[in-house]
Amino acid sequence: MTPTEYEYLRKFLKDNSGLDLSADKQYLIESRLLPLARKAGLPGITELVQKLQAGSRTLITDVVEAMTTNETFFFRDKVPFDHFRDTIMPEIIKARAGRRSIRIWCAAGSTGQEPYSLAMCLKEMGAALTGWRVEIIATDLSQEVLEKAKAGVYSQFEVQRGLPIQMLVKYFKQTGETWQINPELRAMIQHRQLNLLHDFAQLGTFDVIFCRNVLIYFDQDTKINIFNRLARQIEPDGFLVLGAAETVVGLTDTFRPIPERRGLYKPNDPRAAAARPVPAGVAPRMAAMAGQ
Ligand SMILES: C[S@@+](CC[C@H](N)C(=O)[O-])C[C@H]1O[C@@H](n2cnc3c(N)ncnc32)[C@H](O)[C@@H]1O
Repeated sequence: MTPTEYEYLRKFLKDNSGLDLSADKQYLIESRLLPLARKAGLPGITELVQKLQAGSRTLITDVVEAMTTNETFFFRDKVPFDHFRDTIMPEIIKARAGRRSIRIWCAAGSTGQEPYSLAMCLKEMGAALTGWRVEIIATDLSQEVLEKAKAGVYSQFEVQRGLPIQMLVKYFKQTGETWQINPELRAMIQHRQLNLLHDFAQLGTFDVIFCRNVLIYFDQDTKINIFNRLARQIEPDGFLVLGAAETVVGLTDTFRPIPERRGLYKPNDPRAAAARPVPAGVAPRMAAMAGQ
């Protein structure tokens, strides 16, 4: 791969998915994109870049998806789900007792383990939510991971990562070598394709937003832009949950960390957030992805 091709791919990925690659990640591109080139009948990266430049829409999607990291597992990091059960939900249930409805957004849900972990937490709350309308919207950039999430079918290896055995027995059915989450839990989640670089105002407002282990791949300006737009989609008393390596601190004043609740953030004054302009250049839908 020539330096020009590498620079082209770096810019292409930043524009289309937010992925911010440093100057020395040629090996990563090659390890992920060479198999893709071969599958498309192309001899190498040079020809792949030429086809991308010619605007091949399928290839654009395939390249973006091949470069995303979809690593996830049930109850990942455990603590955020403890906070969800012990801090977030009790507060939201109390605050929403009048309208008895809750909206949760899992903003980079990957293959579904994170939204299904939330669904299991909610089921475990039993009577506390009887008669409530609870919506979970799980979104991801990648159509491929969404298909898996919708199916809710996991390998033995996947269910052994983070999922307590009693939850496996209670909420999954074994079919041959795979496990499928039960239809009641599957029905609790709406899966939708969504690129966080694009406008997401149409999703409405949420009481809880999980946006974990995705912003780490973006540069500062992109993170700031996304935080400012997330602040517009969260109820004034809602909660934002970030991954262990992510924070708003030093980037934005739209959210503040909750002391002694690592990974949990509250929105600051929503009127200030509404007045804050969305920085130009990130939100518009990229023409290259318009066909998705
Ligand atoms: C490492 S996984 C994290 C999954 C889950 N949140 C967790 O913490 O286990 C990151 C996910 O973000 C998705 N992603 C990457 N860029 C995105 C973007 N611009 N918009 C929406 N999702 C994106 C990837 O497809 C991938 O499924």
